[in-house]
Amino acid sequence: MISSPPDDNGVNSTVSESQVLKSKDIGDLPGIGPATAKKLQDSGFGTLESLATVSIGELVAVGNLGEATSRKIIQAARDALDFGFTTAEEVLERRRNMLKITTGSASLDDLFGGGIETGSMTELYGEYRTGKTQLAHQLCITAQLPREMGGLNTDDKNPIKVVYIDTEGTFRPERILDMSKRWEGDLDIKQVLKNIMHGRAYNSDHQMVLTEKIAKDSQTEKIGLLIVDSLISHFRAEYVGRGTLASRQQKLNQHIHTLLKVAEVGNLSVIVTNQVHSKPDMFFGDPTAPVGGNIVAHASHTRVYLRKSKGERRIARIADSPLLPENETVFAITGDGITDVG
Ligand SMILES: Nc1ncnc2c1ncn2[C@@H]1O[C@H](COP(=O)(O)OP(=O)(O)OP(=O)(O)O)[C@@H](O)[C@H]1O
Ligand SMILES: [Mg+2]
Repeated sequence: MISSPPDDNGVNSTVSESQVLKSKDIGDLPGIGPATAKKLQDSGFGTLESLATVSIGELVAVGNLGEATSRKIIQAARDALDFGFTTAEEVLERRRNMLKITTGSASLDDLFGGGIETGSMTELYGEYRTGKTQLAHQLCITAQLPREMGGLNTDDKNPIKVVYIDTEGTFRPERILDMSKRWEGDLDIKQVLKNIMHGRAYNSDHQMVLTEKIAKDSQTEKIGLLIVDSLISHFRAEYVGRGTLASRQQKLNQHIHTLLKVAEVGNLSVIVTNQVHSKPDMFFGDPTAPVGGNIVAHASHTRVYLRKSKGERRIARIADSPLLPENETVFAITGDGITDVG
């Protein structure tokens, strides 16, 4: 695995390095002539990382190549990148490239160990009106703050982009404008909306196509944050009944796999929102659980449970994290956006 230079350890840095390597090496890989290299690039496999992490089935389907060729290409990319085990020290070094996006609330940032991580997927789940969409809107702004203020930006001439995949039609740019007033002076407010790409997904297939497009674009564009609000609603609505559960979970699995790859390969932050379903037969604990079953549960690196409290107050709890303790904290949804409780 290639590690990034210490002076530019930012978003997409692994990718830009791999692109340097690619321009020297991708055509030299055994089994890849210029025509195949072009075909791969056109179908979104522009970097050695993207080839080394794809499954054979996916390369056959998306890259329109034979199975034997696909197998050979994947193996060659893995060999070229020395894909295999690394020492824990190297893993730690790579994690140092990870950045954190401030939520705009000090108590929430504390809960998240400094902010929302890049290079991984965070799931915000909870009942309706608990603030999932509001927090997602606010992160569209804070991700654009300069690095030293808790954002991802290092270069105003080539700013960080945010992508919002909106499955429920609840994206409101005017709300983002309202919220961004808090950072007047730190941000060029007129630019904030220009750096947010909004994709309205009308069904689960459309949602998957949009995500695959981002997987491709994130290899060349400086995308720092990808939001999917919400992850499962289309899948849930389209696949009704027990008999369809297996095919639903299969498609969902494929979708989540793409999201995880986008996060890890591009070192960007992926945030998905999720609803909860009631479990009326449950006697102990919280009678609600996020939908999507084990597939979503195992894929999300950090799961955050949001619930209502009095008035504008909300409670966020770390429900599952490989790193953070299971704490909770209170925040507020106000006219200004997500804030600490005043
Ligand atoms: N301009 C505003 N000023 C104050 N509070 C607001 C404002 N806009 C929205 N809210 C509050 O945010 C809450 C809605 O949160 P949000 O839309 O994030 O819910 P959600 O968790 O995404 O719900 P759903 O599951 O229905 O999508 C409501 O309680 C609403 O009062
Ligand atoms: Mg919502």
